Amino acid sequence: MNGAPPLSNLIHLLYKKVLQPFLFQLDAERAHNMAVQGLRFFEKWPGSLEFFQSQFVIHDPRLEVMVRTLTCPNPVGLAAGFDKALEVFPILPYLGFGFMELGTITPKPQKGLEKPRLFRNKARKAILNRMGFNNPGLDAALHRFEKGRRKKLTVPMGLSIGKGVNTPLEVADNDYLHCLGKAYSLFDYVVLNVSSPNTPYLRALQAVSPLRKLLTQVSKTVQNIAQSTGEPSKPVFVKISPDDSDEMLEAVVRTAVECNLGIIATNNTIEPHLLGPKWAHEKGGLSGRPLKDKANAVLKRVYQLTRGAIPIIGVGGIFSAEDAYEKIRLGASLVQVYTGWIYEGPLLIPNINRGLLKLMERDGFKRIQDAVGTAY
Ligand SMILES: Cc1cc2nc3c(=O)[nH]c(=O)nc-3n(C[C@H](O)[C@H](O)[C@H](O)COP(=O)(O)O)c2cc1C
Repeated sequence: MNGAPPLSNLIHLLYKKVLQPFLFQLDAERAHNMAVQGLRFFEKWPGSLEFFQSQFVIHDPRLEVMVRTLTCPNPVGLAAGFDKALEVFPILPYLGFGFMELGTITPKPQKGLEKPRLFRNKARKAILNRMGFNNPGLDAALHRFEKGRRKKLTVPMGLSIGKGVNTPLEVADNDYLHCLGKAYSLFDYVVLNVSSPNTPYLRALQAVSPLRKLLTQVSKTVQNIAQSTGEPSKPVFVKISPDDSDEMLEAVVRTAVECNLGIIATNNTIEPHLLGPKWAHEKGGLSGRPLKDKANAVLKRVYQLTRGAIPIIGVGGIFSAEDAYEKIRLGASLVQVYTGWIYEGPLLIPNINRGLLKLMERDGFKRIQDAVGTAY
């Protein structure tokens, strides 16, 4: 199995044959919460983090990626939405991730939408969610982050921020600026989530005029902080939707370049009919395998419009090293995984990293960073 140590193959088998069948019988959100509790239990069990590290972390300098002020030991990160409440982030670097994104967090705590709100489609390796930014709120999140970040093994960590569900669109900027101001000094990067499908009208913020206003203010805030501290600015990314017209996408990308912000492509799609007619009327955002082609088309367009001027993180439908490598060759400096990790299990991350080393060797790249944007 991809040169993995024998014990991690056993862990993989246990996940696939015992844990996953058990969890997949439960309501998906309940299963997620149990998995989170399980991870927290392991954190307290002496020696378990070191054991995870020995099984899941691939050390190879060729995998290291530098993106502005971030140095990631490998390009495979955890996407936003898994650790919404900042409960397990200290453990996740021990599972092999090269960076991670926490949240999305809003200024005040939110319960999210009515349950059930998380669904699996096993046959299509997809997840449909309408969580609606359930999160403990900014202050609790920052408190948890400060308390939990003292582990030995750490990787760059970003915070995804969003607007509160009851904040009118006209004053949504205040929510982003408030979260940015408080989170900036603690996190390695910040993400403006303007593309979740589950907060009403949020995606309207991607329209040219509101987006320009928001991104300009964000960029000024970051510059001011950098000037006053004398430190280089930390990267800020805008996470975009895969469902916009080409015209809108171009405008969003142009504005991000003007403001010198990176792009994360993409969030979930609001086209559940990709799962077949039975799902066509379900509300929510679709992730996993059916999202891959759409997300890759957006990534490709973003890279063609920017050609390395701003960093891009590629996300959507990664289930293998080949999927990750495709995104890197399409122009992503870093990639993120969520749904693939749930379906393939904990060995996916080291397998992607091992596979990336093989693919870059095959193609004659000395470092994974050299493969970025070489698909054209
Ligand atoms: C249950 C669930 C919750 C999510 N919550 C968030 C979120 O809070 N903020 C965000 O930016 N993206 C969120 N996402 C989107 C993911 O970060 C990612 O963009 C998307 O799932 C595509 O990647 P994947 O196909 O690897 O899952 C969520 C995805 C899932 C499945």
